[in-house]
Amino acid sequence: MNLDKLLKTISALLLTSSLAVHADDEGKPTKSKEPKLLPPAVSLDTGLLLQPVLTLPDFTYEKFAAEMSTVGPEKIHKEWTSPVVALAKHPQTNPKGLTHDEVKAYMTEVKQMFDEGKANPVSDVGLISTQEDVIRQPMLNHVAAFSNDVVRAYLLVQRTASDHGWSYYSIVQDLTAEPKIHYFAELKKDGPELQATSCYKCHSSGPLAIHPARGDLVLDAKLLAAVDKHIAEQPRSEFYFPPDNPKPPTGKELTMKFCARCHNDDDGDRAALFQLQSHAIRVMVDFGYMPPNRHLKPEEVAELKAFLEHKPKP
Ligand code: HEC
Ligand code: HEC
Repeated sequence: MNLDKLLKTISALLLTSSLAVHADDEGKPTKSKEPKLLPPAVSLDTGLLLQPVLTLPDFTYEKFAAEMSTVGPEKIHKEWTSPVVALAKHPQTNPKGLTHDEVKAYMTEVKQMFDEGKANPVSDVGLISTQEDVIRQPMLNHVAAFSNDVVRAYLLVQRTASDHGWSYYSIVQDLTAEPKIHYFAELKKDGPELQATSCYKCHSSGPLAIHPARGDLVLDAKLLAAVDKHIAEQPRSEFYFPPDNPKPPTGKELTMKFCARCHNDDDGDRAALFQLQSHAIRVMVDFGYMPPNRHLKPEEVAELKAFLEHKPKP
């Protein structure tokens, strides 16, 4: 069986299992409340990608599982009940905007919880960071979500297949600030360092839903679906740019209705997208994840392509 066929078979299986029906209290069949599993990544050949699709044929599940466990097998692929791990209650009642020290303390805490095996990470080979202009080799990610009344926090533990050490990144969303704020940081040896310029290129709306490069390169597809649902439903919030890490030039705003009705700064579910985000846009649309409920028509793809290439509308 060739890879395309295999992916389509896996996709069909995943779809059938996510449509499993249950009976409600009165015996009427209801759709399962569990989040739908993500359909596997299959390129639609839209012509939006700048480089050939990477399917990583030599990267077997066994190799993937072994590489992922180098972070410490006891920290990953765990039994879980809630996809989002509860953080201790914030010491202060009703804070109005957290200080940078408080934000950094949450970042340090989520790394510590991961190190102690108290997180529920989803482990995958990321689609967006593996394809195209980034590295073109498996990007290994462990992503864990946490929350309490005042923050939503995330930890990313990451390395490329050819590196040895793991790097740590965190996002903390301050729910008490008005408007709410997303803080981004790399967690270095001596603590979190707030960053933003390079992160904004992909993370325009804050945390990104997890998309594995291949359906089999993920530990716990159910956990992934649940974490993705949590990320998709996050409240809108502003990006924090530290003074030494300003907002980069964005290029033009994407205003085409078929994207901007959800991605806009006024009443969108997600923040506006710009030419700067072209990498994530190319991958999400080519692999059929955006828009969420249909595929673009050829003339819409042409319009999007012209926009990304800084050309006038065809
Ligand atoms: C090339 C695009 C890209 C850039 C640049 C980038 N990220 Fe990400 N990041 C991703 C993707 C894609 C995911 C989702 C992981 C997956 O699909 O496996 C992610 C996930 C994360 C997560 C886990 C929570 C979530 O959003 O899913 C954190 C934390 C994170 N990134 C922090 C950062 C920080 C901090 C920076 C800047 C220093 C940064 N990222 C830069 C693409 C990027
Ligand atoms: C019906 C609403 C809707 C439409 C229409 C839509 N999106 Fe999205 N988009 C979302 C949601 C919700 C997310 C976050 C969850 C996810 O990534 O699955 C998202 C995520 C994204 C991301 C990742 C960055 C982010 O904001 O999280 C990109 C890039 C993206 N969409 C591009 C597009 C493009 C390009 C189009 C038009 C071709 C489009 N979207 C149309 C709702 C939409």
